[in-house]
Amino acid sequence: MTLTDTNQTPARTATPRTVLMCRPSHFTVVYRINPWMDPEMPTDTALAVRQWETLYQTYVDLGFDVQLIDPVEGLPDMVYAANGGFVIDNIAYGASFTHPQRQPEGPAYMDWFGANGFDVREPVEVNEGEGDFLLVDGVILAGMGFRSASNSHKELAEISGREVISLNLVNPSFYHLDTAMAILDDSSIAYLPSAFDKPSLEILRERFPDAIIVTEEDAAVLGLNSFSDGYNVVIAARATNFEAQLRERGYNPIGVDLSELLLGGGGVKCCTLQLRR
Ligand code: ARG
Repeated sequence: MTLTDTNQTPARTATPRTVLMCRPSHFTVVYRINPWMDPEMPTDTALAVRQWETLYQTYVDLGFDVQLIDPVEGLPDMVYAANGGFVIDNIAYGASFTHPQRQPEGPAYMDWFGANGFDVREPVEVNEGEGDFLLVDGVILAGMGFRSASNSHKELAEISGREVISLNLVNPSFYHLDTAMAILDDSSIAYLPSAFDKPSLEILRERFPDAIIVTEEDAAVLGLNSFSDGYNVVIAARATNFEAQLRERGYNPIGVDLSELLLGGGGVKCCTLQLRR
């Protein structure tokens, strides 16, 4: 057998991102709105802050423009900035949270978007921002089943002028789309098949035949909850199979440990909201 061009890994290019993050100064677990959270388990806020700072520094080192929103006391989940909205073409579609415990985060993030020059659109429908909305190939993949309502998919389609493709999540441990899927570049994704219902899986298989299929093991440490600039992919350090899969495809995986924030059911991507001007 001879080696052909098809065996070569494609060259990847890094495009530094602009992102919004929120320091976990008030992080703890005092309520349970997903299966990862257990209010009986002790949390270490100082450790959460140190781990988050490593993620922050990783982004800075990659040349990202990292913006910060002030954490609000009494909103322990505010560190999961991905849920603060969905930002595209300078339009910030605000979040409207499913659970009352997180509802005040919606206006807090919208205030920030407004103060920073974004065209803020107040949501009518329940949605949890980039936790459930992921941009790839110019279209928005949108999760539903646990948090964001299907009507929010329509609302976002009208506001953004983009095609929005609804995907049904079926495993409560992967309750946001960004826990079951990773966007790697303009046209590549990775996902966990068992997190989706059959019709959604068919859509994914047809649209993304070359997608990376991750193991249940890697998904169980929120390995998919990662953030890529097209070449560097910041992932959970414990997702070692995913790390190897990424390397094989020519990406540069960078592992970080966010074990404390995993107690709230979030990882790398949850702490990161991409700002697209
Ligand atoms: N405790 C938070 C919640 O259940 C975690 C949010 C994780 N964020 C994400 N983008 N997946 O709402």
